[in-house]
Amino acid sequence: MDVKLIDLKERYNEEKKELEDCFKKTISKGNLILTKEVFDFENKIKKFIKVNYCLGLNSGTDALMMALWVKGIKRGDEIITTPKSFVATVGAIDHVGAKPVFADISDDLNIDPKKIEEKITKRTKAILPVHWTGRVCQMEIINKIAKKHKLIVIEDAAQAIGSYHKSRHAGQFGNIATFSAHPLKNLNALGDGGYLVTNIKKEFEKIKIYRNHGMISRDKVKFFGVNSRLDSLNAAVLTYRLKKLKSVIKKRRANVALYRTCLASLGLGEENIILPKEENYERNSYVMFTNLCRSRDKLQKYLNAYGIQTLVYYGTPLHLHPASKKFNYKKGDFPVAEKACSRVLAFPHHQHLKNNQILYVCEKIRDFYKKN
Ligand SMILES: Cc1ncc(COP(=O)(O)O)c(C=O)c1O
Repeated sequence: MDVKLIDLKERYNEEKKELEDCFKKTISKGNLILTKEVFDFENKIKKFIKVNYCLGLNSGTDALMMALWVKGIKRGDEIITTPKSFVATVGAIDHVGAKPVFADISDDLNIDPKKIEEKITKRTKAILPVHWTGRVCQMEIINKIAKKHKLIVIEDAAQAIGSYHKSRHAGQFGNIATFSAHPLKNLNALGDGGYLVTNIKKEFEKIKIYRNHGMISRDKVKFFGVNSRLDSLNAAVLTYRLKKLKSVIKKRRANVALYRTCLASLGLGEENIILPKEENYERNSYVMFTNLCRSRDKLQKYLNAYGIQTLVYYGTPLHLHPASKKFNYKKGDFPVAEKACSRVLAFPHHQHLKNNQILYVCEKIRDFYKKN
């Protein structure tokens, strides 16, 4: 049996008619930049997350860079963040000239609040927690630390649309938050896309101009900006998909619940696989389903031979990339993140996954650990 990690083709088949409607509606107007579709999407997101302002941008990476920019982060500033994220988190910090200062993660694979204070120096300006895989960080503790040291909190919520912590949506905790609409996210565009949320009008107004070359009219440039606008077609698609987001996440959560029951009933304990925990006050949107697996590489090969696609998400912590050499970190600096990266494996997980496929994956994992 073939079991795909994700299935975007299936998503297209399911939504063909509605996507074509979005396409026709948008294209027929003959105007594809900063139209009503974009503002409608921003208004819907703002209500969904319960924040004052939202701006549609062309990626989660740009959203992060703009959040740092609008908060006045500049050359020489230090930003405390996690070594277990996608490269865009640290890339954005580097692009504004600031320096990422890593703090190790805890068991939830998110930045460990206990490790933050020891990293604070006179140059620290912000804490940038990442809600990895859609699991919201321990934001109350992080906010307390930030308040005590007068630091800004920038949430990288790229993976966390539809994720809640004590009934508060990701993006409500920090001073500003950024999201990605990359095709692999739960709310995904037909290509790249992103958005940023803030409660501060001035920031909203500044980024609104910045994303459009700094222009306040065709003939007046207030400051030099960038071209980072969410396009109208993707805005229409995202508005349509936002209506379905809750049902998408419900199915994804059901996948995880079934994996959990099935692996437990097959007797697979934490000596082999550690599944993500979920406290009763958490509601993870599970943009991916990653687990820490003993003999990860061998397991991946074994599953692949049975048609089961998995992915290492990601095998190298951010401080050990060649690009991070200039920050002077070394192997062993963040042992929890390093160990997690050496064991992490994403299992097939999407809203079109069938229960019998999940059972098949679990059985093959059980077979592997029986033999190894
Ligand atoms: C944690 C995190 N931050 C930032 C990004 C960047 O988002 P984008 O790919 O939309 O630029 C991603 C994308 O996968 C991400 O996972």
